[in-house]
Amino acid sequence: MAELKAEYMITALDDVASAHAQASCALDDYLAMPDDSMDGRIAEARARLGKQAIILGHHYQRDEIVRFADHTGDSYKLSKLAAQAEGRYIVFCGVHFMAESADILAQPHQQVVLPDLNAGCSMADMADISQVEACWDRLVAAGLTQAAAGGLMPLTYMNSTAAIKAFCGERGGLVCTSSNAAAAFRWAFARGQRILFLPDQHLGRNTAHGMGISPQEMAVWDPYQINGGLAPERLHAARVILWKGHCSVHQRFLPEHVDRVRAKYPGIQVIAHPECRLEVCQKADGIGSTERLIQFIEQAPTGTMFAVGTEIHLVNRLGKRFAPLGKRVITLDDAGCLCTTMFRITPQHLAWALENLVEGNVVNRIRVHEDVKRWARVALDRMLEIQG
Ligand code: 13P
Ligand code: SF4
Repeated sequence: MAELKAEYMITALDDVASAHAQASCALDDYLAMPDDSMDGRIAEARARLGKQAIILGHHYQRDEIVRFADHTGDSYKLSKLAAQAEGRYIVFCGVHFMAESADILAQPHQQVVLPDLNAGCSMADMADISQVEACWDRLVAAGLTQAAAGGLMPLTYMNSTAAIKAFCGERGGLVCTSSNAAAAFRWAFARGQRILFLPDQHLGRNTAHGMGISPQEMAVWDPYQINGGLAPERLHAARVILWKGHCSVHQRFLPEHVDRVRAKYPGIQVIAHPECRLEVCQKADGIGSTERLIQFIEQAPTGTMFAVGTEIHLVNRLGKRFAPLGKRVITLDDAGCLCTTMFRITPQHLAWALENLVEGNVVNRIRVHEDVKRWARVALDRMLEIQG
């Protein structure tokens, strides 16, 4: 199993690398051009593609990209839109795991394009399939997967590779996003007594905490330590085993940022993404996915001020959108946290990808190997069935 999965991943990456190589000369030409020369070209290519293409944009994308998106959303909303899309091409302005999920959910005739293949996610990179398989083998050896021990359900955050999604699907588990993690935990606990949660320890801890699970019933599996760094009694006491991964953007928000902003702006509402630390989320007035954070602000009365603990492009966009409505939106920290991989999708990359599609060249296609797709689809379908 471990060997097969590694082989599938190499095949998929080879496909992608060769597609990129074929078109890389042309891309260099685009990259030499200024941002503001791209708008007209993107608009024209988009118009020429018509219903053949749909452009999906995650909320963390830059304004120059978002303005061309047919739909924006959090990862749950975008995965649903990808599953319902009708055109031939799904141009995904987001990161690699999102485009992979779109390919898994898309119909066989559809092709998914990620305008820059370097748009990855450092959190997704923190769990490699071989590490997850080694962890599972240890948990099987410790007896945790047996019915007598209550059984163990693998549950992965959307921010993970397709191979890990397939791993979970094949073992009776599922995928969740930040908008349906609690529902996914309930689904998993209805079928087993324990959860292995991959790869974001913060989303896992925040969700478990919200369900009344104590810190003593959670354990953190460190893939770089022998046996995850956990003694057998610690493992057996755990109802939730959290993979030691995190988002380097959201982990930068600290509880002192909440204290500081509250002292400076009395009455301010603090809202945060659940990838932030538990200590930050506990101090916040609201926690939610990017889509939910936007709803908090939409639903607030005029005059409300918000400090938002999430990626800076979204925070700045919300600041501009809500200022004329009398609502002020600032970042929770002083500097603003940037997702450098989301930022990699530039107007030049989008223009290059769309103009190639107009010419009938599919560049930067993201293609998940069929054998991985099968079980990853099962895990994603389970998520879509439970909803939020
Ligand atoms: P959302 O699903 O909340 O948009 O989160 C995606 C993400 O990567 C946040 O870091
Ligand atoms: Fe990954 Fe964090 Fe960027 Fe989201 S914000 S894509 S979790 S690195």
